[in-house]
This record gives sequence, C-alpha cells and structure tokens, in this order.
Amino acid sequence: MSVEIQTPSVRWLSIFPPHTVCGMKVLDRDAFRKEITVPSIFVTVDKVGEVIKLIKQNDCLLKMDNLQPVQDEGKDKIILLDPDSYEEKYLKIRQCFKKVDINSVSWRKITVTYENWNSQDIFKAILPPNTPGNISVKERERIFRTIDSGDLVYDVFAGVGPFAIPLAKQKCQVHANDLNPDSYKWLCHNANLNKVTQYVRAYNLDGKEFIQTIVKIGLVDFWMRDEDNRRVHVLMNLPACALDFLETFKGLFSEYLPKVGVMPIINCYFFKKEDEDMNDIIDKYFDDEAQKTLKISVVRAVAPNKLMFRATYKLTKKTLFLHLAL
Ligand SMILES: C[S@@+](CC[C@H](N)C(=O)[O-])C[C@H]1O[C@@H](n2cnc3c(N)ncnc32)[C@H](O)[C@@H]1O
Repeated sequence: MSVEIQTPSVRWLSIFPPHTVCGMKVLDRDAFRKEITVPSIFVTVDKVGEVIKLIKQNDCLLKMDNLQPVQDEGKDKIILLDPDSYEEKYLKIRQCFKKVDINSVSWRKITVTYENWNSQDIFKAILPPNTPGNISVKERERIFRTIDSGDLVYDVFAGVGPFAIPLAKQKCQVHANDLNPDSYKWLCHNANLNKVTQYVRAYNLDGKEFIQTIVKIGLVDFWMRDEDNRRVHVLMNLPACALDFLETFKGLFSEYLPKVGVMPIINCYFFKKEDEDMNDIIDKYFDDEAQKTLKISVVRAVAPNKLMFRATYKLTKKTLFLHLAL
C-alpha cells in the first residue's frame, strides 16, 4: 500500500473493488488495484491513545485487510478513517475530535490492491448480480450468524468458496465440495490465499457422492466424539436442483450405529416459479418429521415470476435411518 497526501477538495469514493472486475473469469489481481480517498487525522504522540479510543467508540477506523490504519509520521501518527462511517457520523465525529483539540480532517489518496479486500468483497465484486444461484452478501451474513466458531460445516456445492472461506476464517471446520474442477482449483487457491487450509478440506466430487461418503463418515465420527456443544451444518446452494439431492440423505445409514448425536441443520436453496405451489414442493421433498422444523425464507427475485428460496430444517433420524425402526 502507498500513501499520498490529497487536497481536501477531492471527494472520497466508497471502499469497494473496481466495478471492472465484475464477471472476471480468470483471477487478475492487478485489476483490483485502485486509488481511494479517505479521511485522515494527524495526532501528536501524546494524544494517540485518547483519540484511538474516540475513533473506536464511533466505529470509524479504516478497516481493510493488510492495511495499518495508524501510521507513523515522524514521531507522531496519522490515523486513517473509514469514509462511509465518517460521512454517516460526520457531525458527531467532528465534535468528538474538537474535545481533544483536533480541528482538521484532511484527505489522503491511498492505493489499495487485491490483498486489501476481504474474500467476501472480492466475491461480491466478481460475481455478476444476476448469476444464477448468486446470493447477496446479506443472505450469506444471515447464514454466518447461525453458525458458530468450531461448528462442522459441509458445503455440498461450494463454488470457489464464498461460504466456505469466511466460515473457515470464523474457525469452523469446513468440508467444501464442487464438481467443477476449475471451481475446485480456485477453492483450494482461495483457502491458501486466506491462510485457512487448516480449517478447510476441499473435494472435487459429485454432490451425491460427497454426501454418501464425506458427510456420512464425518457424521459417524462427530457422533462418536460426543461433542454436544458443536453443531453440524449442511449448505446446499445449487438452487436449480439442490432439492433433488436431499433424496441422498434418505436411508444414508442402513447399518447399526452405537451412537447417534445431534442432527445436522440443512440450508438448501431452490427456485420456485409463480405457477408452482409451495405446498406441493414441501410435500414432495420434506417428510412430516422434517416439516416440524422447516422454515422457508425468500432470498431474492430471480425473474419477474421466479423467486429463490432457502429451506432451513433439522435433518431427522427418520430420514437418515429409513430402514431401521428407531
Ligand atoms: C450456484 S453455485 C454456488 C456456489 C457457492 N456455494 C455460492 O454460494 O455462491 C453452484 C455450484 O455447484 C457446483 N455444482 C453443480 N453441479 C454439481 C454437482 N452435481 N455436484 C457438486 N457440485 C456441483 C457448480 O460447479 C457451482 O460451483
């Protein structure tokens, strides 16, 4: 990152990768290089602690990967602020600064590169908004909030890892799979780049085989460990046909198991056309036990007469042990 002083008359732009990367097929890191203008304050060394405290209270410190927002300026400091938060809380922040004798905020042009954005921003910037199956950052964040650090996650249709990598960063144990060899390659690449290989195992299998082998073995192992403070999640984002893969869980265990623990939580995305009846879909794919925990949420409109939904439910023993009288 390089820093250069900028005159205050230049207005800053929000922090987001360049729009030109949208739809990129082959990762070109240089295309992410961009100049942004951010508010900054000069602070004498004796006031740094006090000012940082004020900035943190207002949540306006510039937070980007691999970027140090507090920089040396001789024996004093320059603190970089987040332009969006600063703009939003402008009056309040200026008043707070006045209390500690900081009366001027200047603007700095900084050059940010691929390494300064987090994986979510990069995915969001690359994926075109109408990519089938592309879901919003908000929807992903909704899922992230339901998964705790340490939980076990199976991402059946992982793509290049927009769920898997942030969850691995959240210290979940992630098993991420994709049938497409290119997606698999970039999934491994992204795990390396984000230094989360310790938390992610990648597979290049058909979703059905992944469930029949990796998920099945993983569940047995998990149940045997008797860890009732962790949960298991299965993510299935292939909205055109993910529902059909639910069939794979039926009778997944036909053998005797000495121990059966917590049931996995499934998040399965699907499309529904206007002329399809939701009750027919529910009856076709979810048995009466599954329906007891089933929640269907709208994710987004894909076309005027087609919506994407998420089905969230707890997998049932009745489904997994179809052939056993449990
Ligand atoms: C809609 S994308 C989802 C990618 C990512 N999980 C996300 O949320 O953006 C679906 C992914 O499923 C993969 N896929 C398609 N058919 C598959 C199959 N039968 N088994 C495993 N992966 C499959 C595709 O290669 C694609 O990367």
